Amino acid sequence: MGGSSRGSWTGHVGFVLAAAGSAIGLGNIWMFPYRTGQNGGAAFVLVYLAAVIAVGVPLLMAEVLIGRTTRRNPVGAFRELRPGSPWLLVGALGVITGFVILSYYGVVAGWVADYTWRMATGGLATLETAGMQESFEALVGDPVRQVAWQAGFMVATILVVSRGVEGGIELASKVLMPLLFAFILVLLGYSLTSAGAKQGLEFLFSPRFGELGWDGVLAALGQAFFSLSLGMGAMITYGSYLEDDRGLIGPAFMIAGMDTLLAILAGLVIFPLVFSFGLEPGAGPGLIFVTLPKVFTLMPGSAFLATLFFALVLFAALTSAISLLEVVVAFLVDEGGVGRSAASWGAGGIIFALGIPSAVFPGFLDGADAIANKYLLPGGGLLIALFVGWFFSREDAARAYGGQSGDDSGFELWRFCVRFFAPVAVVVIMLKSLGLLGG
Ligand code: PHE
Repeated sequence: MGGSSRGSWTGHVGFVLAAAGSAIGLGNIWMFPYRTGQNGGAAFVLVYLAAVIAVGVPLLMAEVLIGRTTRRNPVGAFRELRPGSPWLLVGALGVITGFVILSYYGVVAGWVADYTWRMATGGLATLETAGMQESFEALVGDPVRQVAWQAGFMVATILVVSRGVEGGIELASKVLMPLLFAFILVLLGYSLTSAGAKQGLEFLFSPRFGELGWDGVLAALGQAFFSLSLGMGAMITYGSYLEDDRGLIGPAFMIAGMDTLLAILAGLVIFPLVFSFGLEPGAGPGLIFVTLPKVFTLMPGSAFLATLFFALVLFAALTSAISLLEVVVAFLVDEGGVGRSAASWGAGGIIFALGIPSAVFPGFLDGADAIANKYLLPGGGLLIALFVGWFFSREDAARAYGGQSGDDSGFELWRFCVRFFAPVAVVVIMLKSLGLLGG
């Protein structure tokens, strides 16, 4: 096995946890609620769920099997499967996307770090709702404070990645992910008994398709890609550390299921609070930073609970950031022969620098986020689906797909999704949202 010198997961469970750690992050807790608020509530959620099941899960399997078959980073994987062809550019696009996303991801994770710190030191405990809003605005208007936290977060990410794939990430995910789930459930109890519960649930469960539009549909598709860490090779990379050839349907549904559950739970916590405190559901990126601190002021022992909660969100962001950096580092290690530690610090340092404009100019953060979510991830996912669907022979696909014979019907359905459904869906949605299909 060529895999051992590159590192590998301790087994299937380790892989599922690490992949869930990559998937569950700011995409679920920060992005999903505010995007839902901006794009017609349940209408957005329904398109999102459809995208997860019909496009996300098949593509997740496709990425993992590319990685598992080749045991390579995204660029090396495409090169090995189609030597001398331009397909390796799809891998290169993934590496570039890793730079783009992590650059601003580090800034938003820095906000979470700032909130964790202020919760721990009591700085937010007594604020009124209006004060919460102002205090968030003060943070995003303060480049120095943001860059300082972003730097700290990037150093933590680099330290973990430079130590390799085993042990750290897996172990931490095993302990902290269940804790995050448990915590969200406690918060749910508070939000569902708050004054705005009915309105919040109505907002989340009554679809207003008029507010969605094709741009909102594209946002929901991009959200599914982002939240499942798809379309840029993170799952190719994580799949490359997988050393058995069992079937992937079960793991793919488990990863996607945990990820989706956490996003929905976050929505169920946030929206009742939004209405209880008279906030605007379409408020945008500041949504959780204004609602969540507020709920803690209602609880006994709030400072401690609030600190713990933001620390868990910070940790979820960390396990996602690790997978983003890992894509770039695996590429440098495999293809450039760079040492893991040098690759981590070098790439992490450049990404940190690229993120500074996002901390200084809020418009820059939104722009980078829009490009990644609306174009880079769906575009990358489209190409990966086409590759596995059309450039893998049926036999190769069946072999890579693995699993016991007997789930043949699953194989056919999966292959149909990557060959036809996913590519057509992505292309139609992109063209529609650009207004090119009579949108
Ligand atoms: N899925 C992560 C989240 O929801 C972000 C991510 C995107 C990670 C792409 C890796 C690749 O926060």
